[in-house]
Amino acid sequence: RVPEPCALVIFGVTGDLARKKLIPAVYDLANRGLLPASFVVLGFARRDWGDETFEEVARKAAMEHARTPWREEIWNRLNGNFKFIPGSFEDDEAFDRLQSELESLSESHGIAGNAAFYFSVPPAAFPIVLNQLERTGMADNEKSGGWRRVVVEKPFGHDQASSQELNELVDTVFTPQDVYRIDHYLGKETVQNIFALRFANAMFEPIWNSHYVDHVQITMAEDVGIGTRAGFYDASGAARDVLQNHLLQLLAITAMEQPVGFEAEEIRTEKLKVLRAVKVPDDMEADAVRGQYAPGWVEGRHVAGYLDEDNVPAGSTTETYAAVKLEIQNRRWNGVPFYMRTGKRLPKRTTEIAVVFKEAPHMPFADFDTQILGHNQLVIRVQPDEGVTVKFGSKVPGAGMEIRDINMSFSYGEAFTESSPEAYERLILDVLLGDKTLFPDAAEVDASWRIIDPLEDYWATTKPEPYASGTWGPERSDLMLHATGRRWRRP
Ligand code: BG6
Repeated sequence: RVPEPCALVIFGVTGDLARKKLIPAVYDLANRGLLPASFVVLGFARRDWGDETFEEVARKAAMEHARTPWREEIWNRLNGNFKFIPGSFEDDEAFDRLQSELESLSESHGIAGNAAFYFSVPPAAFPIVLNQLERTGMADNEKSGGWRRVVVEKPFGHDQASSQELNELVDTVFTPQDVYRIDHYLGKETVQNIFALRFANAMFEPIWNSHYVDHVQITMAEDVGIGTRAGFYDASGAARDVLQNHLLQLLAITAMEQPVGFEAEEIRTEKLKVLRAVKVPDDMEADAVRGQYAPGWVEGRHVAGYLDEDNVPAGSTTETYAAVKLEIQNRRWNGVPFYMRTGKRLPKRTTEIAVVFKEAPHMPFADFDTQILGHNQLVIRVQPDEGVTVKFGSKVPGAGMEIRDINMSFSYGEAFTESSPEAYERLILDVLLGDKTLFPDAAEVDASWRIIDPLEDYWATTKPEPYASGTWGPERSDLMLHATGRRWRRP
């Protein structure tokens, strides 16, 4: 399906997100024939650019970061459809210009008033941009004669109270149905495949519960540090940056009941039930761990510690690693811990969900180490080596009855010839099509902050434990699992 003719307005278009993800996604969509014949990108930022400079920068960004091969003729078709509006968010005149530009595009390019506004801006700027859209009537579907949608990037608030305030504001300026909250993890093929794995097959769902599952481990590890993002990151930390959104969404999809259908509302209902049933640890000291990377070695390279990164305030207590044990209080998951961890400057970049099963009830073989053997695992490899692994014990060839764990593995690269869309590409397309299935709604965001707030309150009284870059995080994180005879996987 191809969207109707429309405009994509990007606020903060000179930033990293637009350059690395949004503009390349536009090119990829064009390359796959998924853009309407009339499509305009309107960039808005406080830079002295004209349309031509914008087009040049966009072209470079697409050449460098697009997923699909470069084809000059595709870009040439987009060329001429990049418009730039210089201005600050306080500048009424700039927003008036944007509004009249959109009106005249309706005539010149036949976009019929259809526009999506993408907020690639710091959270502090959300309210002012929203107010400008309201003041100029640009958020108004009826006035525009077409549809008006808004796309907001995380972080969506700083805690439950501030996120409620923002939700209220955005839902009064736009119709709630037209608000798209981006969590780019939901745009990943492997994350959407969790729905298929669970609900399109007969063999997994019967054992997907506390009778068979011992615990679940959700890991999002990154080998990179914070780069040049100290300004944002130091005020946020790992829990607000990714636990509140990406990891809790992964948990919700892994744990939810089968939705009645695959409509946005039906999926949201089931995810929300899980998020509302999540219980934070009673014993925070044992089950909520924070860390901060110290200098160390990653992939043979010596790297600086967090406190030595550019623009990090001296003595900062912001965490770059967070791990927590959550429980889901419902019949399916009663007593099954969901261990979540995320960190920067870990040994490698990998995101996975490991469902670790209970031991076989009885094993008629000679003694062996049950810590290593006997716990089957189903591992959803979200990235970078996308696929699914099932780990189970097999007889080692030879005399006797020795058992060893082996892996049975499915890899996207081997199983499919189709190329996966990049997450942003998929999500931008869905915004233009008006499909909200892959977007968390206000209630989910709210329920997620309900889980994060008590962790943050506890952590505010503690200091993060340092861990050497290139290691798997602070020791206390390992102890959190050892306390119950479990251990983290080493992906
Ligand atoms: C972003 C976080 O949401 O996700 C970053 O703000 C993080 O800190 C990034 O690096 C990771 O995304 P991905 O798709 O590379 O796993």
